[in-house]
Amino acid sequence: MWKGRFAILAIVVVSLICGLSMFAVRGASNDQLEVYSWWTGPGEEEGLAAMAKSFEGTNPGVRFVNAAVSGGAGSNAKAILASRLLANDPPDSYQRHAGLELLDDVRSGKVQDLTDLYRRQGWMKVFPKGLIDNLTIDDKIYAVPVNIHRANLLWYLPKTLQDLGLSGPPKTWSEFLQQAEQIKAKGKVALAVGPEWTQKHLLETVLLGELGADKYEKLWEGQISWLSPDVSRALDMYAKVLAVSDVKSAAGDWQPQLDRVVSGSAVYAVMGDWTSSYLEQTKNLRWPTGYSAAASPGSDGVYDFLSDTFTLPTGARRPDLAKQWLIECGSTDGQNLFNPLKGSIPARTDADAGLYKDYLAWALQQWRDPKTRIVGSLAHGVVANNAYNAEIDSALGLFVQDGDQGKFARTADAQYRETQ
Ligand code: GAL
Repeated sequence: MWKGRFAILAIVVVSLICGLSMFAVRGASNDQLEVYSWWTGPGEEEGLAAMAKSFEGTNPGVRFVNAAVSGGAGSNAKAILASRLLANDPPDSYQRHAGLELLDDVRSGKVQDLTDLYRRQGWMKVFPKGLIDNLTIDDKIYAVPVNIHRANLLWYLPKTLQDLGLSGPPKTWSEFLQQAEQIKAKGKVALAVGPEWTQKHLLETVLLGELGADKYEKLWEGQISWLSPDVSRALDMYAKVLAVSDVKSAAGDWQPQLDRVVSGSAVYAVMGDWTSSYLEQTKNLRWPTGYSAAASPGSDGVYDFLSDTFTLPTGARRPDLAKQWLIECGSTDGQNLFNPLKGSIPARTDADAGLYKDYLAWALQQWRDPKTRIVGSLAHGVVANNAYNAEIDSALGLFVQDGDQGKFARTADAQYRETQ
């Protein structure tokens, strides 16, 4: 209760500070563009800065104001943004994920239709149809994608596996549990986890691995119940996986989560592929000998995707400049500047594959392989609307603490119906 009140108070204070600093910034000049994201970490910050510089180059005299709020997966940024949108004080453009995460903004009139911009820029032909579908609501397109990320990955250091006598990463979650026994016997933790959103990210990959892609999709479409035997078995597995993780002393965010893998105190971490730029740029590790990744157990051949996009808010102070920013985001040059630094692959299908090396070359090859099955991420906005996602967050927080799987399943099942 007090924790919740404190969080609300903190958000209000931060919003006030942001509001005041924006006021000061706004007072300074009209020729500036405020862009809101949660990219403050290594790699993502540099990627954003590269696009910002290019934007300033093509719009002389305009200053790019970086209004990023730190916290993985937008854990803080989204809450502060919500209060700004409520107060009709939007930034000129803000980050959202492709998929159902956009729905509230569209329904409440917070973002503008970009279909014309798509036509003028010829973007219908250069973005994958499945991605455009995830940006379209009632036949209108509402956001411009800069990248594609993959969520279902298990990261590790080959050296740690060798030291432990493990021949390779596990191909199924059952195999993972077997390895976990060996790992425990050697005094290490099998799986590092971080804050709540990373635990939800883990849940989606266990569901995917245990249910398979078809049933995973059906669960989000309400065609399979959380109370079905298949989902119950998958939740059993999730509980077992958590039990061999360091959830009781969970890391503060995804970078410290990965630090445990790098130090060798933990062997694996499930995380999205923004991990590659962190390990390369901050930890100086090289793919595939210094660090490596495999599809999370049971999900080989499946690409659990998400995409970072930018929007044109209703009431943006400089919609003209915001459109120029969106053009930067959707352009070949913008995507090629951004993605190699960010550790993601381009959303455009015509981007130069030669720019994407090491891990990113593998990711691009998998993404473009027609045999790859593409599904959408839960923790990163694709398959569940914000209300449903928030209900899953609360229920999962309790499940992780009290282990009451039945209660979690019943709540998730009821909330699916409540929130559609
Ligand atoms: C995701 C986002 C990524 C990266 C990650 C970690 O939600 O799409 O770009 O920022 O969170 O913060």
